[in-house]
Amino acid sequence: MTLEQQKTDRELIEEFFRNLSFLKVLSPSRVNQLVKDFNILKAGKGDVVFYQSDPSTDLYIIINGTVRASLLNDEGQELVLATFRRGDFFGEMSLLDGRPRSAAVIAVEDSLLAVLKREEFLHAVKGDPMIAIELLSALVQRLRMTDEMVESIAFLDVGQRLLRLFHQMAEAEGEKGRDEFFRVKKLTHKELAARTGASREAVSKAMKVLCFRDMIKEGDGCILVSLDADRRFIK
Ligand code: CMP
Repeated sequence: MTLEQQKTDRELIEEFFRNLSFLKVLSPSRVNQLVKDFNILKAGKGDVVFYQSDPSTDLYIIINGTVRASLLNDEGQELVLATFRRGDFFGEMSLLDGRPRSAAVIAVEDSLLAVLKREEFLHAVKGDPMIAIELLSALVQRLRMTDEMVESIAFLDVGQRLLRLFHQMAEAEGEKGRDEFFRVKKLTHKELAARTGASREAVSKAMKVLCFRDMIKEGDGCILVSLDADRRFIK
């Protein structure tokens, strides 16, 4: 890549930053200051960006791709806390309190990430209360989603959790409300287990029951979910 090309790419990324909703509240000069010193990290599908308990404290912004924040146990079981896409940020918890990473972050697909230094970002937060408010509202949104997950794990059976997950996936993938079924991407039972806080065995059993009761159909690369099942099982 030529120096000219690199410069253009960097300028494009700076432009991308200026249009991010959580940075839009800043004055152009402060955004320029903030983005003048970032690094680019390429993460291939399945790469670990950082592990839980790592001591790093930088903030990551997704330029392209998707990553997930997960808790992993010693047996290799995973609980997915959140999925982040283009324009989202992560790593804000260690950035704010300086403590080790609360979760691992893993690339779901090939991803391009901008890494912003903690000091630069904190400087911007101290200088402009609006960015602190944007950050707080993102944190509150994440807390609400976590509350929903805790509620699911505590109060719903695995079949209900799966239906709720399909519902959320359809909302994120923009595929909701077609005919009497909606369509979501097919995930492995291991992946479904990681996203519902259930064991793989419990997911396989619940999927069989949902199929048997015509609430879902497993297609090629997708799962069709009955809107009726949705009404009966999701409050
Ligand atoms: P940090 O603790 O620095 O590194 C792991 C990141 O995962 C964390 O910052 C957040 O960006 C993200 N994360 C951790 N827990 C949650 C959660 N419950 N909901 C959404 N994102 C989370």
